[in-house]
Amino acid sequence: MPAMLLDGKKTASEIRAEVASEVEQWKKQGGKTPKLAAVLVGDDPASQVYVRNKERACAQVGMASELFRLPVATSTEALLELLEQLNNDPYVHGILVQLPLPYGLDTQRILDAVAPNKDVDAFAPENVGLLVQGRPRFLPCTPHGVVQILARYGIVLEGKHVVVLGRSDIVGKPLANMLVQKDIGLGPQYANASVTICHSKSQNLAAITRTADVLVAAVGKPGLVSADMVRPGAVVIDVGINRVGEKLVGDVDFDEVSSVAGHLTPVPGGVGPLTIAMLLRNTLLACQIQALVD
Ligand code: GUN
Repeated sequence: MPAMLLDGKKTASEIRAEVASEVEQWKKQGGKTPKLAAVLVGDDPASQVYVRNKERACAQVGMASELFRLPVATSTEALLELLEQLNNDPYVHGILVQLPLPYGLDTQRILDAVAPNKDVDAFAPENVGLLVQGRPRFLPCTPHGVVQILARYGIVLEGKHVVVLGRSDIVGKPLANMLVQKDIGLGPQYANASVTICHSKSQNLAAITRTADVLVAAVGKPGLVSADMVRPGAVVIDVGINRVGEKLVGDVDFDEVSSVAGHLTPVPGGVGPLTIAMLLRNTLLACQIQALVD
């Protein structure tokens, strides 16, 4: 029997509808309109598409957004100055610096300059630390999307072995940090996992991945996960978005793995749409957090 597909588009649209209704409530109660500031440096075509989608998504849920488009030759100092302005702007609640930044910019210094209360990506050391300690302020968007899609399909994680392929600061590390917590706000059944992180130096990769109840691929290598790496019936979440010619493909060999896995996310239409939905949730949360200290 082929794997059941987990529909990220449908799940994301449910979440967006929930956020839209919360934004409406919030504004009715006199709350400010939540606003996201997106900073895009250079003209990377994929980033242009992402940023445009984020702006459209904000408008759909009743939030404001503003795109700051800077030339590829922008200096680190100029970017730091812009971030300082946005940090101090009382009408900007969330700040997102679209990655990757062009070569030559000091990405770490730039990300560190985003005020932790406005850091809707949850990249700031303070927000990473809070997550690791089990008291998150913002949940990082893509990892949160992964947990949301699992939870909304009723796939319990408590006591399960989750293998995460990839140790990036955007997906692998924060996802592993979320899954080992006792509860990240979705109930204990959607946390409390035993987690293994694998990476490019891991040995006997297939032997490890075959022990996974839930296998998450977040590496950025098309076709990395083949059928022999998946235990029959396992849940496979494909976070990869790779352009191969004209086509978008994930890290999972979809045709092979769909005949082995129990559940599988497609690419496109899997985890991707959830990232933006969780960004909207964080932008509303940022606005609410800032209202407390205004
Ligand atoms: N580029 C690819 N994914 C992301 C993300 O989640 N946040 C930001 N800021 N840039 C990205």
